[in-house]
Amino acid sequence: MVKISVIGAGGRVGSSCVRNIAEILGNKRKNKRNENTKNTIAMIDIPQALNLMKGMAIDIKDAVMNDVEIFASDNRKDAADSDIIVITAGKPRGPGMTREQLLSENAAIIKVIAEDIAKFSPDAKVIVVSNPLDVMSYVVYETLHKISNKSSKEIIGMGGVLDSMRYRKFIADVFNCGLKDVSGAIVLGIHGEGMVPMESTVRLKRLKIKEGDKEKLNEAAKKTTSAGKTIADFGASAYFAPGVAVAKMINAIMKDTNEILPCSVLSNGNYGINGELFIGLPVRIGKNGVEKIAELKISDEERTKIKKAAENLKNTLAQIKI
Ligand SMILES: NC(=O)c1ccc[n+]([C@@H]2O[C@H](COP(=O)([O-])OP(=O)(O)OC[C@H]3O[C@@H](n4cnc5c(N)ncnc54)[C@H](O)[C@@H]3O)[C@@H](O)[C@H]2O)c1
Repeated sequence: MVKISVIGAGGRVGSSCVRNIAEILGNKRKNKRNENTKNTIAMIDIPQALNLMKGMAIDIKDAVMNDVEIFASDNRKDAADSDIIVITAGKPRGPGMTREQLLSENAAIIKVIAEDIAKFSPDAKVIVVSNPLDVMSYVVYETLHKISNKSSKEIIGMGGVLDSMRYRKFIADVFNCGLKDVSGAIVLGIHGEGMVPMESTVRLKRLKIKEGDKEKLNEAAKKTTSAGKTIADFGASAYFAPGVAVAKMINAIMKDTNEILPCSVLSNGNYGINGELFIGLPVRIGKNGVEKIAELKISDEERTKIKKAAENLKNTLAQIKI
């Protein structure tokens, strides 16, 4: 049996994650003793969100029509013994607000949640979604590592998967081609204004972008960087696509696919980054979480942008005490 808990499940992103995870958790399985076991999702949030989550749990079960068990709780202890924990708790970004402005409020919330993970689910893989993403992923790592020496491989931030989905879509738009024709749309760096949409990895119908088409690609990159803001400026926020992105990562862990996904992970001198921080890098995700940081062939200019993003993140990290 697999147990996945979503902390912040009463919110928009959290509930969207639950819906998409429920889809992939599937049907009853027989265990070694030939008993039927159900995969379980725990929806965890604060007491004010409990009834809302109870209703959502019913609606999601009706939507997915499989044997997954979904329950709601306002007690983080009910996330105990999870295989995977998704953290979406926190405040969303309002119109005109930068992710960095959310920093202090969300760091305090995330730290308490990480302390509970150390107590109740010490072996869980943790997927962080709350913003500012790279900083919150570091807060989770720093807290868990201090308490239980948890490996950084088990803590993964979701930002790059979403940004890369958007990049691929915008590339198809500007080149007026089908999504299937676009591959290698990868966004690294910060999940925020310092994101680095890669140029050298993009292929259109398996071919590199021609020199004369670089302007168009640049347009897609700009649209990608401001995609979150575009949604926020309408008074909305992204939650459908983030839920899909989280489910992609969970699928890679559960099925041990070892596929390369751009995720926020602890850098280990990769891409010339100095110091200890979480940043978007291409990683192979499998049953152990981060199996390997992939070294892609990228241009010197892209490498410099990633290094600069890392320096900016270091400055942001210096603003908080964990
Ligand atoms: N990484 C990404 O790509 C990405 C994309 C979209 C949103 N986000 C971020 O995800 C987070 C959630 O966004 P949202 O739109 O769902 O916000 P939301 O306000 O709808 O949901 C947040 C939920 O967290 C809950 N919460 C607050 N403190 C909690 C605690 N201590 N324990 C448990 N639950 C708690 C709230 O009650 C609420 O239900 C934000 O930080 C947002 O910026 C990240």
